[in-house]
Amino acid sequence: MEQKVIWITGASTGIGKETAMAFSKAGNIVVVTARRKSRLVRIVSEINFAEREASAFVCNVTSERSVMSTAKRIKEKYGRIDCLVNNAGATVFKSFTDTKSFDYDNVIDTNLRGSFLCIKSVLPMMIKNKRGHIINILSVAANTAFENSAVYAASKAGLLAMSNSLREEVRRFNIKISNILPGAVETAMWENKARQRYKHRMMQPEDIGKIVLNVFAQPKKVLIEDVIVRPVKGDI
Ligand SMILES: NC(=O)c1ccc[n+]([C@@H]2O[C@H](COP(=O)([O-])OP(=O)(O)OC[C@H]3O[C@@H](n4cnc5c(N)ncnc54)[C@H](OP(=O)(O)O)[C@@H]3O)[C@@H](O)[C@H]2O)c1
Repeated sequence: MEQKVIWITGASTGIGKETAMAFSKAGNIVVVTARRKSRLVRIVSEINFAEREASAFVCNVTSERSVMSTAKRIKEKYGRIDCLVNNAGATVFKSFTDTKSFDYDNVIDTNLRGSFLCIKSVLPMMIKNKRGHIINILSVAANTAFENSAVYAASKAGLLAMSNSLREEVRRFNIKISNILPGAVETAMWENKARQRYKHRMMQPEDIGKIVLNVFAQPKKVLIEDVIVRPVKGDI
């Protein structure tokens, strides 16, 4: 079977890293990108050690130039991108009053504009090839109200709405758009204190990695549009 080329953003840690591992173990070529090069290099070494193909590129999703040149480098190296996983994310968990415009810019630029740019960088090629899959890692915050999450929720709800609209534009090109909305996952996104306190209830990044792979690995004519996944004991 032909190996698929999978680009995962924000893959230096957490859900992105474990998604890369899941796709690699399933025999795909993975391209991991993020800002911290040393972590990416370690992930690629681990994958190469298992005699599988992977590449790492530094890519800051808030920079249009960085995103466009990364997409170009992946296409030059592998000829195509079969799947983009928009995973890179930033958070601000503060009351609305305490949230500064700097926080707003950072979260919206990373989660919403960053995903917009990454999609723009792969879409013309996917339309030309009449195939492709874009999987967005959103959050239950996209459709559930939590305190101290207004801007984070707005960034994820914005991407949800944008993707739902885009899906209707690109169905005719056989391009799939999937949204995954996870609840609490034990990653560096959480402060140490909360992580220690709720660790036993949280999902693990590997759990989400397997779900992302599963969403991708559906038959050609099947599209999983939205996945809501929560810890059994509910939200934290
Ligand atoms: N953990 C949860 O409970 C949870 C729940 C629902 C959804 N999510 C979503 O899951 C995604 C992954 O988060 P995580 O929980 O795995 O946390 P994480 O371990 O902190 O991962 C965040 C990743 O995003 C990357 N990143 C941040 N800003 C970036 C930028 N400007 N350009 C490129 N990469 C950037 C980081 O890499 P660098 O710092 O190396 O760039 C890191 O690899 C996020 O979109 C988050 O909103 C998480």
